[in-house]
Amino acid sequence: MNGFVYDIPTKVYFGENQLGNLGSELHRFGKRVLLTYGGGSIKRSGLYDRVMEELHKADMEVFELSGIEPNPRIESVREGVAICKEQAIDVLLAVGGGSTIDATKFMAAGACVEHDAWEFFGAGAKPIERALPIVTILTLAATGSEMDTAGVVSNFATGDKLGRLARPLLPQVSFLDPTLTYTVSRFQTAAGAADIMSHIMETYFSTDPDLYMLDCFMEGLLKTVVKYAPIAVREPENYEARANLMWTSSWAINGFIIGGKRRAWSCHPMEHELSAVYDITHGLGLAILTPRWMEYCLDDSTVDKYVQYGVNVFGIDASLDKMAIARESIRCTEEFLFEQLGLQRTFTDVGIKREDFALMAQKACRYGAIKGFKTLTPKDVEAIFEMCL
Ligand code: NZQ
Ligand code: ZN
Repeated sequence: MNGFVYDIPTKVYFGENQLGNLGSELHRFGKRVLLTYGGGSIKRSGLYDRVMEELHKADMEVFELSGIEPNPRIESVREGVAICKEQAIDVLLAVGGGSTIDATKFMAAGACVEHDAWEFFGAGAKPIERALPIVTILTLAATGSEMDTAGVVSNFATGDKLGRLARPLLPQVSFLDPTLTYTVSRFQTAAGAADIMSHIMETYFSTDPDLYMLDCFMEGLLKTVVKYAPIAVREPENYEARANLMWTSSWAINGFIIGGKRRAWSCHPMEHELSAVYDITHGLGLAILTPRWMEYCLDDSTVDKYVQYGVNVFGIDASLDKMAIARESIRCTEEFLFEQLGLQRTFTDVGIKREDFALMAQKACRYGAIKGFKTLTPKDVEAIFEMCL
C-alpha cells in the first residue's frame, strides 16, 4: 500500500440559488473577467443572462469567448490565450461542460507563457507552472473537470486528442447547481453517466492493494450512478437524480478515490483515440469499450475484483461460482449502459471502422504499453477494438 497526498482546495458552491456569490468570488481575483462558453446551450437556457446580471452587479469588466466545441480544439484555446494577453484578463469564468472548462484551463495556463499552448501536450511537453485563476459554473455532470487538475484538447491538424494534468489547472471555485443540468439531452446525460462510471472503474479495477475504505466509497459512487442515471434520463427535471450525478461526477475524479494507487488508466487512452479520429462523444466511446475491456481482462488472476464489483454494486448472488459472478457482472454493466441508458452498443453503430484500428492502437500506446489493470500492448488494444465492432 502506497502513501499519498490529498489536497484539493477547489471551493464548491453546491445547490440552487448560489450564483449570488459569483461576483464576490470573482472579485477576489480582479475585475477583468473572460467568460467562456460553448455552442449556445447557456443562451437557450437563460443561464447566460443570469450570469451577466451577476457580473454587472459586481461591476466586472466582461470579455467573452463563445463557440468552444465538444472535444475542444486547440484553436479555441489559442483564441482565449490571445484575449487574456491583449486584455490583461484577471480571471477566467468557464460556463458549460467539460469541453468548455478544459479549454479554459489551457487558456489560463497559456496566458502565463510565451510559447504556443499545444506545447503543453505530448512527449516533451512544457511545464505548467502557473495559470490565471479559473472559476467554473458546471452545466453537465460528467468529466469532473470542475474539481480536478486535468484537461483534454484536440488538434485535428495532427490527429491528436491529448490530456494533461497540472495543479495550476485546478479551478479555484466551482458552482454546482443541479437544476442547470435539467436541459441536458437524454443522450448527453447517458454519456456523462458512462464517463463518471468509467472514472471510478479505472481506479477500482486495479491489482494494487489499497484501502478497503476507498473500495467501499467507490462502490457507493458506482451504485449512485446505477441508481440515478436512468432516472435522470427518464425524468430530466428530477432534482434528486441530477444532484446525485453532479456531486458524483466531481468525487469520481477529484483525487480522493485514487489513494496510493499508481496504475495507469486503460479505457480512457483507448477512447481518446476514437474521439481524435471520429470526433465522437467521450462517454459514448467509453460505454462501448468498457464491457469489452472487462471481458478481455478477465482471467484467474483478476476474477476476484469482478466478484467484488458484481456482488457489491449489482447485488449478484455471492454464493455462485466466481467466474459465473464475473460474467454476470459484465452482463449487468452492458445492460445498464445499453438497455437502461440507451447508449449505442458497437463501433459499427457509430461508424468506427477496422481500417483505423492499427493506427489508433499505436497512438493509444504512444508512451509504451498501457500499464493498467492488465498491461495492454497495441495488439491487445486492437483485439479489444475488434470486440467492439
Ligand atoms: O456547447 P454547448 O452549446 O454548451 O452544448 C453542450 C455540448 O453540445 C451540451 N451541454 C452542456 N451543458 C448543457 C448542454 N446542453 C443543454 N443543457 C446543458 N445544461 O452538451 C454537449 C457536450 O458538452 P461537453 O462539454 O463536450 O461534454 P462533457 O462535459 O462530457 O465534456 C467532454 C470533454 O471532456 C473531456 C472529454 O475527453 C471531452 O473532450 N474530459 C475531460 C476530463 C477532465 N477534465 O478531467 C476527463 C474526462 O475523462 C474527459 O476526457
Ligand atoms: Zn472520462
